[in-house]
Amino acid sequence: MQTRAILRRILADALQTAPETLRFTAGPQGKPRLAGETHDALNFNVSHTDGLALIALCREARVGVDAERLREIEAAKLARRYFAVEERRVIDAAAPERRLETFFAVWTLKEALLKATGEGVTRPLNNFAVSPHEDGTASLLRDDHRAAATGAWTLVWRREASGHIIAAAVEASPARFQFHDFSWTQEA
Ligand SMILES: CC(C)(COP(=O)(O)OP(=O)(O)OC[C@H]1O[C@@H](n2cnc3c(N)ncnc32)[C@H](O)[C@@H]1OP(=O)(O)O)[C@@H](O)C(=O)NCCC(=O)NCCS
Repeated sequence: MQTRAILRRILADALQTAPETLRFTAGPQGKPRLAGETHDALNFNVSHTDGLALIALCREARVGVDAERLREIEAAKLARRYFAVEERRVIDAAAPERRLETFFAVWTLKEALLKATGEGVTRPLNNFAVSPHEDGTASLLRDDHRAAATGAWTLVWRREASGHIIAAAVEASPARFQFHDFSWTQEA
């Protein structure tokens, strides 16, 4: 089943309505959201890559997700070019066998945060900094756009058995965060 059809079913379940009644609209940078007075308090975000789809739902708080397949890339070069200096330090400090994973954790966490705010790639990637921790939590170290709000985000990441790194950012307390695994089969 396609991600959009799955999303529609999950949102409809959460809102206890029929999937076909849902209407979508988009924010200024294209972030999809539900249209309509009764539905617009349910926030969602989607990421899909190489056989994995990630869907996040959150009532009353902004949420963003990202997934990337862990793969050999020129991590040091990309980090120098795009990441904040604090993030480069975190990656350099990781044990060599965990460096690529740490790079992708930073990447997906940054992307999840940008997707939560809906800004997409409209802001420089080095004017905010995240730091993934080994327990799957992460910190927002700095955010030049909203310096006073660095405590407001819950950031989480994890490595999937499939070889993907996934991350989520939610503008709420950690108590509101849960991962669920779903596998869907096409109905006949
Ligand atoms: C479009 C973008 C939001 C994410 O793109 P992506 O990572 O290639 O793709 P993902 O699968 O994670 O996300 C795509 C989904 O995000 C959603 N989306 C689109 N625009 C969005 C926005 N402005 N904010 C949040 N979500 C958005 C949509 O649901 C889209 O799925 P759809 O095309 O099926 O409707 C954009 O931020 C982007 O191009 N990012 C790349 C930035 C980059 O180079 N990052 C490097 C490391 S930080």
